[in-house]
Amino acid sequence: MKIRFLVAALAATVSFGAFAQAPIVIKFSHVVATDTPKGQAAERFKALAEKNTGGRVKVEVYPNSQLYKDKEELEALQLGAVQMLAPSLAKFGPLGVKEFEVFDLPYIFPSKQGLYAVTEGPIGKQMLQKLEPKGITGLAYWDNGFKVMSSNKKMNIPADFKGMKMRIQASKVLDAQMRALGANPQVLAFSEVYQALQTGVVDGTENPPSNLYTQKMHEVQKFVANSNHGYLGYAVIVNKKFWDGLPADIRTQLSKAMADATTFEKAIAQRDNDLAMAAIKKTGKTQVYDLTAAEQAAWRTALLPVHKEMEGRIGKDLIGAISKEAAK
Ligand code: LMR
Repeated sequence: MKIRFLVAALAATVSFGAFAQAPIVIKFSHVVATDTPKGQAAERFKALAEKNTGGRVKVEVYPNSQLYKDKEELEALQLGAVQMLAPSLAKFGPLGVKEFEVFDLPYIFPSKQGLYAVTEGPIGKQMLQKLEPKGITGLAYWDNGFKVMSSNKKMNIPADFKGMKMRIQASKVLDAQMRALGANPQVLAFSEVYQALQTGVVDGTENPPSNLYTQKMHEVQKFVANSNHGYLGYAVIVNKKFWDGLPADIRTQLSKAMADATTFEKAIAQRDNDLAMAAIKKTGKTQVYDLTAAEQAAWRTALLPVHKEMEGRIGKDLIGAISKEAAK
C-alpha cells in the first residue's frame, strides 16, 4: 500500500514537473525565405527569446508561406492559430487598417533616415496602436528597403508600362501606383508570384532585390528597373490576447529579444539588398537598368499624383505629417 502510494506520488511529481516545464510556444509565420532580412531576424528573435527566457519560451519559425499565405496568416493570427507574424505594411488594408498603406506611397521616404524618423517616432507608435482593436499588438517595424520593378519587357519610362500586367500586394495605393503608370495591377499572394511570372499570368512585379533574388524571380524576368520608387517594410505583430496573457517577466524578456532582433534586422537590410542586387546582375539572366535622371523625373511626374489621389483613403493629415517627418 505504502509503496503504491509512493509510486503514485512520484508519478504525480514527475508529471507536474513535466507540466511546469512545458514551454510557451510562439508560432511565428512569414512568407519570405530564411535568407532575407526578415527571415534572418525571425531566427535571431527565436534564438534570443529562447535564451533570454531560459527555455521557458519556444519559438517555431515557419518561413516561405509554409504554414499560411498572405491573407490567411492575418486571419490565423487573429484566431490564435499562430502568435506572431511580420507582414509587409502593404497587407493591412484588408484587415481594415488602411493607414499603413501610407508607406506604399511612391517616393514618400527620401531616405532611410526619414523612414526611421517615422517608424521610430510618435507617428509610428500611434499607427501600431491602430491594430489593438483588431486583437493585434504591434511590437516593431522591420525594414526591407526600396523596391525595384521587374518585368519581361523594358520599363525605362512610364509609357513602357502601358497594358503590362503587374503583380501587387493587397494595397489600394499599389493598385493606384500601377494604374498611374498605365499598367494593370493584379493582387496575388507572395507564394504565387514566381509561378505567375513564369507562366505569364503577369508580366512583372515589384519588390526589393532580396525578395526577387531569394524567390528566384529574376530567373523568369528579363528586366529589372533599379527605380527605388517605393518602400517595403514590415510590422512585427502578435495576437494581443496571447501577449497580454503572458507572465510579465516573460513579456519583458521577449520585448528585449524583439528590440535586439530589430536592431539586427535594420543593420542587415540594406547590405542584404545590395548583395542580392549584385547577385542578380551576376547571373546575367536579367538586365538591370539604372534610370537616367530624365527617366527618374518622368517616373516621379507619373507617380506623385497618387499621393493626392489616396488622400480620401489614407487621410490628408497623415500623408502630410509623414511627408514632413520623412523630409527632416
Ligand atoms: C510581397 O508580398 O511582395 C512581399 O511583401 C513579401 C514580404 O513579406 O517581403
